[in-house]
Amino acid sequence: MKDAALLSAASVGAGALNARSASALSASALSAPAHDAHGEFPPLDRPDVSPEVLASDEAFWKRVAARYQVKPAVTNMEAGFFGMMSMPVLAAYHRHIDVANRDSSFFARREYPALITAVREKVAAFVGAKPTELVLSRGATEALQALITQYNGAKSGDTVMYADLDYNAMQWAMNSLAQQTGATVAKIEIPEPATRENILAMYDAALKANPRTKLLLLTHCNNKTGLILPVKEIAALAHARNVDVVVDAAHSFGQLSLSLADMDCDFVGLNLHKWIGAPVGAGAMYIRESKLDKIDRMHADESAPISSIDSRLHTGTSNFAIVMTIPDALDFQATIGVQNKSARLRYLRDRWVKAVRTVPGVDVLTPDDPALVCAISSFRLHGRNTREPNQAITKALLDEFGLFTFWRTGLAKGDCVRVTPALYNSVADADKMARAIKTIAARG
Ligand SMILES: Cc1ncc(COP(=O)(O)O)c(C=O)c1O
Repeated sequence: MKDAALLSAASVGAGALNARSASALSASALSAPAHDAHGEFPPLDRPDVSPEVLASDEAFWKRVAARYQVKPAVTNMEAGFFGMMSMPVLAAYHRHIDVANRDSSFFARREYPALITAVREKVAAFVGAKPTELVLSRGATEALQALITQYNGAKSGDTVMYADLDYNAMQWAMNSLAQQTGATVAKIEIPEPATRENILAMYDAALKANPRTKLLLLTHCNNKTGLILPVKEIAALAHARNVDVVVDAAHSFGQLSLSLADMDCDFVGLNLHKWIGAPVGAGAMYIRESKLDKIDRMHADESAPISSIDSRLHTGTSNFAIVMTIPDALDFQATIGVQNKSARLRYLRDRWVKAVRTVPGVDVLTPDDPALVCAISSFRLHGRNTREPNQAITKALLDEFGLFTFWRTGLAKGDCVRVTPALYNSVADADKMARAIKTIAARG
């Protein structure tokens, strides 16, 4: 999504608060400028250059990094787990906790309904959905488990399909759907090394080989190698065969500059706590308007009409402060710009990957095609595809070089080590990573 669209998304959220029931308190909670707990930050002073030029402007990114409070003892390159809140967002979160706790049910009954509606509208505008197609969740897992297990388009003898690189919990949800319905599971393997062409050929062949496929799970950017799938093209292959597509977009929004139109999928689960920098526990579920009937109500929920997406996810009492902080996270992100974030993250990733790509014994598992990769990439030492050697590498990276990474498992071709830089990392961090990998690889 373009920055201008993001800023207009911000005004959509603020505008919706004009409802009489929205008090001055809720309005100020949504529109107040973010403050650091220790004082105001000066404006970010972003040079007016292209994202690609800005990506290597260390002075600018140092100013961004100064807005994050980072544990000093380690160089954290494991941002794939969850994204840190920036200090202005963290300060806003603290304020919202205080307000929600102090005003308690008075706030929850009288002010929160309008506030959460405005937040939902703002998130919907940010991802490019209609507000009636999106409902807030506590994360991608909650949204995707509901979408998959409440899917009613598969019956006995049909097929549901997923790949080795999909997130484990979503694979299990697909297995559960198969068990509930009597459908069979087709599990496919994403090629390694992957190219746009071999990914599309693989999905095309798999859909042809399984003509009774009803639901296809795609992970837009997977958590094992960081590979970004060409979801729009794969969805076109699926839709041509009347296959519905559910997308795990846990790593998409905020890492990549995009909107739901760039995916053209039926069902999407996403979170706001990885790359958008909201507190942990924020996400959303999207159902394309024309496909609402294919997702059953959650536990026969009668709190909302069957024609409303609200009946598809019932999370109980929400965490008020987390929801109140979502606009602060989106507004902070807008000061940097998603395209700029994306270009910077890819720049840091390219920096360490290019330095080790041709080192003997090092296999980097993601291609360099900018359409197929952004912040996350994984590597393994040639032939070391079991758990122990990859755990040993992450231990050596931490103990000897102070670099925090994580090993990943579940790939058809074997385990690996994942490296995920964030906006608070520098070129020096990426260079340190490359040197450490070279040193470890040279030990044989
Ligand atoms: C690919 C992928 N899908 C889903 C999830 C779960 O996301 P959430 O924490 O929002 O439930 C993760 C978390 O790491 C992930 O990497």
